[in-house]
Amino acid sequence: MKKIIFVILVLSLLLVMVAACGGGEKAPASGGDADVAAGKALFNKTVLGASPGCVTCHSIESGKTIVGPSLAGIASKGEDFIRTSIIDPDADVTEGFPSGTMPSTFKDDLSEQEINQLVKYLMTLK
Ligand code: HEC
Repeated sequence: MKKIIFVILVLSLLLVMVAACGGGEKAPASGGDADVAAGKALFNKTVLGASPGCVTCHSIESGKTIVGPSLAGIASKGEDFIRTSIIDPDADVTEGFPSGTMPSTFKDDLSEQEINQLVKYLMTLK
């Protein structure tokens, strides 16, 4: 009888270890790639909250201007610049483009997580 209890104990210990390892492996997928994919999906929505979505004004093709500048290669300007551009578009107006055109409503309409996902996606545009 004792032997059976021992076997059950060992088995449940193994299960706990497997569960812990599995969780550890999943973390990067849901953090990195999943965020980039979610950010891309957000970027491509034609409506975001109460405003037109990013894709209606921004191309990711180099040199293609819609209303706003092409975001091809935007990663070179860095994460902080991209985040500020989304939260407070008039903080640093891109040369050759009018201020007050990009909606300043995204900081209210998007969650912190959604903004992070957009930033992560735009950081892949190298
Ligand atoms: C109604 C059109 C419009 C929409 C919608 C819009 N933008 Fe913009 N965006 C602009 C314009 C115009 C500029 C350039 C003037 C400025 O800096 O505010 C700009 C600038 C930017 C810049 C800085 C580009 C550079 O090279 O300096 C980034 C980054 C950016 N937008 C990201 C976004 C993201 C992400 C979204 C969606 C959440 C979005 N924009 C939605 C019009 C828009």
